[in-house]
Amino acid sequence: MRPASRVSEFVRRICRRDNQWSATFDSVSVLEPVCSNAAPDRVFPSSPHGWTTDAAQALFSPPRQLSADYISDTVPRPLHLWDQACQADPVRNEYVIPMLWQEISESKASSVMDLGCGSGYLTRRLLARSSGQIVRWVLVDSNRDALAFARERLNGASNIEVAHGDITQPQPSRWVDPVDFAFLAFTLLEVQVDATVASNIEAQLAPSGTVVVVLPDVLTDIYQLGDPAVEALGKYIKGQVFLDKIDKFTGRSYPFYAQRIEKIISAFLDCSFFLSNIRQIETRTGHSIYFLRFRRRS
Ligand SMILES: C[S@@+](CC[C@H](N)C(=O)[O-])C[C@H]1O[C@@H](n2cnc3c(N)ncnc32)[C@H](O)[C@@H]1O
Repeated sequence: MRPASRVSEFVRRICRRDNQWSATFDSVSVLEPVCSNAAPDRVFPSSPHGWTTDAAQALFSPPRQLSADYISDTVPRPLHLWDQACQADPVRNEYVIPMLWQEISESKASSVMDLGCGSGYLTRRLLARSSGQIVRWVLVDSNRDALAFARERLNGASNIEVAHGDITQPQPSRWVDPVDFAFLAFTLLEVQVDATVASNIEAQLAPSGTVVVVLPDVLTDIYQLGDPAVEALGKYIKGQVFLDKIDKFTGRSYPFYAQRIEKIISAFLDCSFFLSNIRQIETRTGHSIYFLRFRRRS
């Protein structure tokens, strides 16, 4: 078995149907066996609950902090190109949007935040499915150009708030009134997830609120690198690797942190979140997409 797929292999054994699997966890204590089965080596040394950021981070290479300013200064992402590509993107349209809508509906949320909204494409599509049960839609991004673009494209839609926020900012703070449900679709590919990031996300949620994190299985991206793949894979297995990828949407280079999913989960669990569900969907383009659902403790 390829080492980096141990978690997904384990969960596939739990429930696999129609190219999808899912596993539901009620609390961290239920998660523990998954972690120890999935990573039987020293990745997560024993601790009271088996998952601590400190324990995990001690084994990872020193982090390179990638601030949102760095991204927006060095990687101009033409928003109209991005938005056009989203419209044609099978991953977003066939998998991410239906799954997010299912999550939002099941959560019975009345307020939804798109955190790292980019051009706002996902919220526009979700808004089109909503028939009034959501009374507040909030779009947040660290890139002010993206916010301006998103606001313009949502022109005329009611119950919209647009706010600037950076989930890496050192003093976690609330940017708007708390929401019942937040989602981060591919946003965490652009930041190094740590306790600060998790705290900033937590601060946006009402007690018992839900956050869904959407991420690709980055192992596929690592393999697609070609020759340097073995070296990159070695770093990934230790915790994370920085890839200088070309954005398939815009043809430009952009920063991309491939982080082990266990590390991201650890950062959330070290806040007031518990992991309530993991879903993996295999897309027809050959990628796997993870949907991690966390709930904030009340
Ligand atoms: C890969 S894009 C995804 C955009 C959108 N969610 C989608 O799926 O089309 C990541 C987005 O996260 C935003 N972002 C990156 N770092 C951020 C940060 N520290 N705080 C808030 N947003 C951030 C970027 O500006 C960008 O719009």
